[in-house]
Amino acid sequence: MGVMKMLKRVIYFSSQTYFLKVQDLKKLLAQCKKNNKAKDLTGLLIYKDGSFCQTVEGEEESLDMLIEKLSKDPRHKNMLILDYRSIQMRRFKRWSMAFENFDTPTTKAMNLRELGTYLEKKFALPEEHDLLPYMLTAFSRPA
Ligand SMILES: Cc1cc2nc3c(=O)[nH]c(=O)nc-3n(C[C@H](O)[C@H](O)[C@H](O)COP(=O)(O)O)c2cc1C
Repeated sequence: MGVMKMLKRVIYFSSQTYFLKVQDLKKLLAQCKKNNKAKDLTGLLIYKDGSFCQTVEGEEESLDMLIEKLSKDPRHKNMLILDYRSIQMRRFKRWSMAFENFDTPTTKAMNLRELGTYLEKKFALPEEHDLLPYMLTAFSRPA
């Protein structure tokens, strides 16, 4: 009998501590992908109006280690855990870290409903759709 590994998922919301340039975001994403591949973590990171909403899923120990690192990362603050739970299956299994920057000319003016439609087109698998409205709603919170 093999060791049972507990699959967990976190969804949190946070705000940048200083203005992140496109170059900063690219660097951050490259770091996420590299580390997550090594730790078998998957998920989606959304950036909008200087705030982040991220879903990360994976084996409990790797996930908890990442949450610890995230809580100390000087690039963001006010990390608010919206959801943390055991899961049966991954929602973003194709993505070491999918990334959406909504502060672009195309998406900047879209409302949350339009962004939802936009995301659904990009995330083609039904299971990937599941958390999108929930993640988007996080951005409608007062700052
Ligand atoms: C909004 C945000 C999301 C992040 N997401 C991840 C992630 O998915 N995976 C990851 O390894 N690091 C992520 N990081 C970076 C971590 O906080 C930390 O800097 C990094 O894991 C340390 O990596 P290192 O061990 O290569 O120095 C994120 C940082 C921020 C600000």
